[in-house]
Amino acid sequence: MRFDRMIADEVRIEPRDWMPEGYRRTLIRQIAQHAHSEIIGMQPEGNWITRAPSLRRKAILMAKVQDEAGHGLYLYSAAETLGVDREELLDLLHQGKQKYSSIFNYPTLTWADMGAIGWLVDGAAIMNQVPLCRCSYGPYGRAMVRICKEESFHQRQGFEILHTLSHGTPAQKAMAQDAVDRFWWPSLMMFGPPDSASTHSAQSTAWGIKRFGNDELRQRFVDMTVPQADVLGLRIPDPDLRWDEATGHYAFGAIDWDELDRIIRGDGPCNAQRMERRRTAHEEGAWVRDSADAYARKHAAAATTTSDAA
Ligand SMILES: [Fe+2]
Ligand SMILES: [Fe+2]
Repeated sequence: MRFDRMIADEVRIEPRDWMPEGYRRTLIRQIAQHAHSEIIGMQPEGNWITRAPSLRRKAILMAKVQDEAGHGLYLYSAAETLGVDREELLDLLHQGKQKYSSIFNYPTLTWADMGAIGWLVDGAAIMNQVPLCRCSYGPYGRAMVRICKEESFHQRQGFEILHTLSHGTPAQKAMAQDAVDRFWWPSLMMFGPPDSASTHSAQSTAWGIKRFGNDELRQRFVDMTVPQADVLGLRIPDPDLRWDEATGHYAFGAIDWDELDRIIRGDGPCNAQRMERRRTAHEEGAWVRDSADAYARKHAAAATTTSDAA
């Protein structure tokens, strides 16, 4: 079959190509979940824009939050090439029928959380997303190339916030440590359940959507992050963390999968608040969508009149 041959030859699948229904559905689910994560992810950081400690920090944070909105837009557009409507996907999110990343259900309690999110959460996102640049579906892979460039800026700005705090006063250093203490384990959970418990992995790998297992990506993230924590002068909150000479990797402690389950089921510290805010933002934006529609109709009508005249 042509589709299988294209996948085997690593030729990109494009919207015009025939594809199995399961491939289309898997991509819609994954891209939508990803898009939802980008726009819900604006909330924990949007919380700190008015309280950023300087004009420079405020400008950087605003740019980052706007980037996340842009990532959402690229991804909803990529999903639309598969024959769904953005409005439909947003409805599914608002009805709780599609998910977003568990990480955004944790609160942002201090300014240092902006650092921990950039360094750890955007860092984990990059680890997950760089392989997606080679995803077999063209529009998704191309969107990811642009997104990953911006994510690396997000990661650097988070690292810089923590570096400044950890080399500041003892109180600032303690605030940075507290943020890392709270965001470390949830960041490891961002890679999803262990491969042994993951339901979609094998088929997604065969289809060239997923390139590496959850556990492998999680391990890479730990290996990349631990030396950075040393540079920051901050401690990773895991007493079992140690370098393993035999494997050439850092060994780390057990992850609390019950906590992840609870959050996925909607029972995390901020699930209700995030969804409520999202629905309100959508309702309050109705006039913008209506105006854009009216404007587009007016222009379409004017174009028809002109071409009739010609
Ligand atoms: Fe993003
Ligand atoms: Fe980001």
